Amino acid sequence: MTAYGSFPGARPRRLRTTPALRRMVAETRLHPADLILPAFVREGIGEPVPIGAMPGVVQHTRDTLRKAAVEAREAGVAGIMLFGVPEDHKKDALGTAGTDPEGILQVAIRDVRSEVGDELVIMSDLCLDEYTDHGHCGVLTEDGRVDNDATLERYAEMAQVQADAGVHVVGPSGMMDGQIGVIRDALDTIGKEDVSILAYTAKYSSAFYGPFREAVGSSLTGDRKTYQQDPANLRESLRELALDLEEGADMVMVKPAGPYLDVLAKVAESVDVPVAAYQISGEYAMIEAAAEKGWINREAAIAEALLGIKRAGANMILTYWATEVARRIGTTG
Ligand code: PBG
Repeated sequence: MTAYGSFPGARPRRLRTTPALRRMVAETRLHPADLILPAFVREGIGEPVPIGAMPGVVQHTRDTLRKAAVEAREAGVAGIMLFGVPEDHKKDALGTAGTDPEGILQVAIRDVRSEVGDELVIMSDLCLDEYTDHGHCGVLTEDGRVDNDATLERYAEMAQVQADAGVHVVGPSGMMDGQIGVIRDALDTIGKEDVSILAYTAKYSSAFYGPFREAVGSSLTGDRKTYQQDPANLRESLRELALDLEEGADMVMVKPAGPYLDVLAKVAESVDVPVAAYQISGEYAMIEAAAEKGWINREAAIAEALLGIKRAGANMILTYWATEVARRIGTTG
């Protein structure tokens, strides 16, 4: 007990007394510029197609994607991460549509770039799963395994067509060994030294990707456990991190975000490059579904989930709520 007061001597509650005080002493704040909007664009549709498991998210047409990019920019969002959904009949074993200069993702990159220029950071998913008829992130060997080195050649080509289309940042999400080094070389070879690489460094094999598979009309039947990480492992992420940095990653990412905040915190304290976290489709769907049932306060839950990701160490957060949340921050400070 202190000599100058009664018990308890310390009262942390004092700083929680009013909203203004709480706001003043807040250690973490979300800013629109922390947020990146992942967006899907589908080839050959006349109207946007709602994604059942992600209420409020759609597969965009080329036109509505442009509009979404403009809205994101107006709300102050930092960037947009583009995913292409090709027409079904264009899927093949090699994911050819992913390297076709007229493929949907490349076309969308050009569309968005011509719409918003450099005012929004334009990023692209660099992975084959949206384009392969077997749904894997790489090409397969004759006996059906994902062939690491043959896939790297495909990724090199993808990086080049995406860069040619005008992307600012490529986001390799396939978890092949050596992908960052190969992509850096491929970009430099065609004079695209300024295109950055956001490496999906710690990408776990997660059940929470479920809704995304609907979003991109995935053809996958098995799982990705031979290339994505085992949720049991933390140390392994630090090894992936060291390799990605050595190979030239400009920024690194942890994914999913919410169930992996320990990994995010560890990665964030270990690096001197910007760190992103991806609040993925399942994290989105869970909150939307619970809110729809009236079981949680939707806006409060979204804000809390995002704040937790930032507090754990993310500089940038990919979230399907990016535009909505940026607008809200803009109006409430
Ligand atoms: C692979 C990729 C996936 C996601 C982003 N990039 C799916 C996967 O690895 O199975 C998931 C994103 C989400 O769930 O929101 N191209």
